[in-house]
Amino acid sequence: MTKTDFSKTEACVFDAYGTLFDVDAAARQEKERLGNNWKSLSDTWRLKQLQYTWLLSLQGNYRPFWEVTESALEFALQTQNINDAPLKDRLMDIYMRLSAYEEVPTVLKSLKEAGKKCAILSNGDMKMLEAAIENAGIGDYLDAIISVEDLRIYKPHGSVYKLAEDKLGVKGSLISFQSSNGWDAYSAKDYGFNVIWCNRFGQPDEQIPSPPDHQISNLKEMLPIIGTE
Ligand code: LAC
Repeated sequence: MTKTDFSKTEACVFDAYGTLFDVDAAARQEKERLGNNWKSLSDTWRLKQLQYTWLLSLQGNYRPFWEVTESALEFALQTQNINDAPLKDRLMDIYMRLSAYEEVPTVLKSLKEAGKKCAILSNGDMKMLEAAIENAGIGDYLDAIISVEDLRIYKPHGSVYKLAEDKLGVKGSLISFQSSNGWDAYSAKDYGFNVIWCNRFGQPDEQIPSPPDHQISNLKEMLPIIGTE
C-alpha cells in the first residue's frame, strides 16, 4: 500500500468531543458529589450519547445533540441510582462549555501559521460548539465550524464527511481529519479523508475496514506528520 502523503494537506478538520474538548471535564468537576464513580458515569454518559446518535440515524430520526446528550446523562445517572435534578443541570451546564485539551490552542495556532485551513466537523449543535470554542479561546484559529445540524443525520454517515468537503471547498484527499474516536477515524478514512487517529485513551485497534493512516496520542504529534515543524 502506498503511504498517504500529508504534505499537500490544505485543510485540517477536527472532531470536537473527545478530540478538542475534554468529554470527562463535566463529571470530573462534580467528583466530590459523584465520588469514585465519576469516571464510570462519564463513560456511560458518553457511550449512550454516541449509541443514541447511531440509533436515531439508522431509524431515520434526528434529535439535536443537546437533547441526545441530556437523555444519555439521564440514563447514566439512573445506572448509578442518582436522582438529583440540580446535579444533572450542573453537569449539562458544564458540558455546554467543556474545556479544551491543553495542547489544542498551540496546535491550531501552528497549523494556521503554516497556512492550513482549520475546521471543526462535529455532531454537536452549533450553539454547543460555539460555547465551547469561546470558552477555549480558539475561535481565531478556525476557518469553519461545521455541525451536522444542517443535515439532521449523525456521523459516520458519509454525507457528514462530504459536508466538510463542500463547506471548505477542499477535496477529501487534501484534508487531514483528526478524531480521538476510533469509529470516527476509521469511517472518515473509509470515506476518503487522510486520517490521523488521536488515540488519547490508548484504545485497541478497531476490527473494521479502513484503518487510519496514523495513530498519535496527543494532537501535538500531528505537526510533524503535516510537515509544519
Ligand atoms: C463529535 C463527536 C462524535 O464531535 O465526538 O462529532
